[in-house]
Amino acid sequence: MALPTDLQSALDTELRRFPNQELSRAVDRLSTRYREGRAATTPIMNSDSDVAAYAGYRMPATYAAVRAVLDEVATFAPEFSPKSHVDVGGGTGTALWAAAGTWSTLTELTVVEQVEKALALGRKLAASAKSPALRSATWRRGVIDPKTPLPAADLVTLSYVLGELPEAMRSRTVAWLAASGAMVVLIEPGTPAGYSRIAEARAQLLDMGRSLVAPCPHEHACPIPRGSDWCHFSARLPRVGAHRLIKEGTLNFEDEKFSYVAASTVPLSRAENRILRHPLKRKGLVSLQLCSNDGALSETTVTKRHGPLYRAARDTTWGSPWPPLS
Ligand SMILES: C[S@@+](CC[C@H](N)C(=O)[O-])C[C@H]1O[C@@H](n2cnc3c(N)ncnc32)[C@H](O)[C@@H]1O
Repeated sequence: MALPTDLQSALDTELRRFPNQELSRAVDRLSTRYREGRAATTPIMNSDSDVAAYAGYRMPATYAAVRAVLDEVATFAPEFSPKSHVDVGGGTGTALWAAAGTWSTLTELTVVEQVEKALALGRKLAASAKSPALRSATWRRGVIDPKTPLPAADLVTLSYVLGELPEAMRSRTVAWLAASGAMVVLIEPGTPAGYSRIAEARAQLLDMGRSLVAPCPHEHACPIPRGSDWCHFSARLPRVGAHRLIKEGTLNFEDEKFSYVAASTVPLSRAENRILRHPLKRKGLVSLQLCSNDGALSETTVTKRHGPLYRAARDTTWGSPWPPLS
C-alpha cells in the first residue's frame, strides 16, 4: 500500500528543504513521545521540522492503515458513495488522501486540526494532487470541541488521535463525531492500548444505535480477552524516497499495525468471519483463527479436500473476511 505517486513526489520535494539530520532528530523525538502513549496536554508537533518529520515518517504508514480500512468499508458498503468527508485531528491530511483514493465520489474534503504548521504542509501537499477534491480541500484550524457541532458529513474519520486525548475527552469525542457522520471510522495504533480505546469506542457506538461495518462480523460484546490479546491488523508499505532515508533502516518495507472500527447509521453487510492472525499454512492444510458472526472466537482448518475453498485459504491474509467475498 504505497503512497499515491503525486503525494510521494510532493512529500519528497518538501522534505528536501530540511537537512536529513534535523529530520532524523525530530523523528527520534516524536517517536519516543508517541511510544510513551500518554495523552498530550499541548500539541506534540511544534516546529516546521517536527511537522515535516511526521509527514515523512508517519504519513506513509498511516496512509497504508487508513487506506486498508477505508477499502474494507467500501467492500462491505458498496452502496455508500460519500460526497463529504471530515477528518478530525487530520495533521497533514493523510486520511483525506486515503479517502479520495477509495471513493472517487468525494467532492468536499475538510481537515480539522489544531497545529497550523501541519495544516500549512497538508495544504501544500494537496495543492499538487491529481484529484480536484484534494486540491480544493478545506484546511480548518480547530480543536476537538464537543460543545461546537462539526459540519455534517457522509464520512467522518479520526485516525491516530484518540490516544492523544485525555481519557475523559474520548467518549465525548466519539459521540461528537458520531453525531455528524453517517459513517464514522476510528483508527488507532495496533497496540493493546490502541485496541482498548477502539473496543471502548465500539461499545459506545453500539450503545448509540450505530451498525458495525468492519472489522467485526457481529455486534455482540468483543470476545477478545482484554489484557491477554488485542484485535489488530497489519498493512505492508514500501520504504521509498525520503521515508527510507529518515527511517535509516535496512528493510525496504515496513508493516504498520492498526486497530479500527467503522460504524454506520444504517445497517450494512458484514463479514461472516474475520481472520485475526496470519493464516498458518502447512502442506495440504491452512489453519485460520477467526472472529465469527456468532460473537465467538474459533479456529478452522481448511484442507485440500475442500477444493476451491482450500485454494482461497492459501491466498487469504490476516484481516480478510472469511470465506472471501465472491
Ligand atoms: C498522531 S497525529 C495523527 C495525524 C493524522 N490523523 C494521521 O493519521 O496521520 C495526531 C494529530 O491529532 C491532532 N490533535 C490532537 N489533539 C487534538 C485536539 N484536541 N484538537 C485538534 N487536533 C488534535 C494533533 O495535532 C496531530 O496532528
